[in-house]
Amino acid sequence: MNDMTRPGDIDPPYLYPDYRSTRLRSPKEALVALPERSFDIPGPLVPRGFVKNGDNDLTVHGRSAPLGEKMILVGRVTDEDGKPVRDSLVEIWQANASGRYHHPGDNHEAPLDPNFHGIGRTFTDSQGMYRFVTIKPGSYPWQNHPFAWRPQHIHFSLLGNAPVQRLITQMYFPGDPLLAIDPVYQSIPDAKARERLICSQHLETGIEMIALGYQFDIVLAGAKSTPMGI
Ligand SMILES: [Fe+2]
Repeated sequence: MNDMTRPGDIDPPYLYPDYRSTRLRSPKEALVALPERSFDIPGPLVPRGFVKNGDNDLTVHGRSAPLGEKMILVGRVTDEDGKPVRDSLVEIWQANASGRYHHPGDNHEAPLDPNFHGIGRTFTDSQGMYRFVTIKPGSYPWQNHPFAWRPQHIHFSLLGNAPVQRLITQMYFPGDPLLAIDPVYQSIPDAKARERLICSQHLETGIEMIALGYQFDIVLAGAKSTPMGI
């Protein structure tokens, strides 16, 4: 994908002072432009065996079901013209239902869930569709500013067919009151683009009496691009 195809107000700036860590990690020097062709230099393909059966179901890796609200998440990955992006590795990571990551760096005092690791991966199919089974992540406090809490979210990584084509973003849930005070979400300049990070509730995608359904489509280029880089 070529960055030129994404309008400038869709992705967040490297420096957004209200999002405190961007003050440290944003570039202090002028960026070095990659040669245009580097966007098309193919990298090693992700081997099929890298994704194992069940890797798209985050609820089956413990001795019993994880705590929380079970959900099915589907979506379609497309290019600027609505054409499906096939065989793209889609990875997600998230906090458990209590808002804690299964990671040594997370010392939030909410409980870990031994039945939930919060990592999933799959490939998009011939229609560009992906599907995950998971639980709804909890909100969690962070140290960005006093009383800061992140809205419920799921992190996404998409891998294209060239090393510079890895894209990351975060998906949010409809109606979350924390979105209004979240500097990560608010760092996206365009309000309409911001809303494209909110999944839609889609009951028929769920499993009757078991799981609630959500849909999150991802557009990689053009005026309707999904914000990336957060
Ligand atoms: Fe997070």
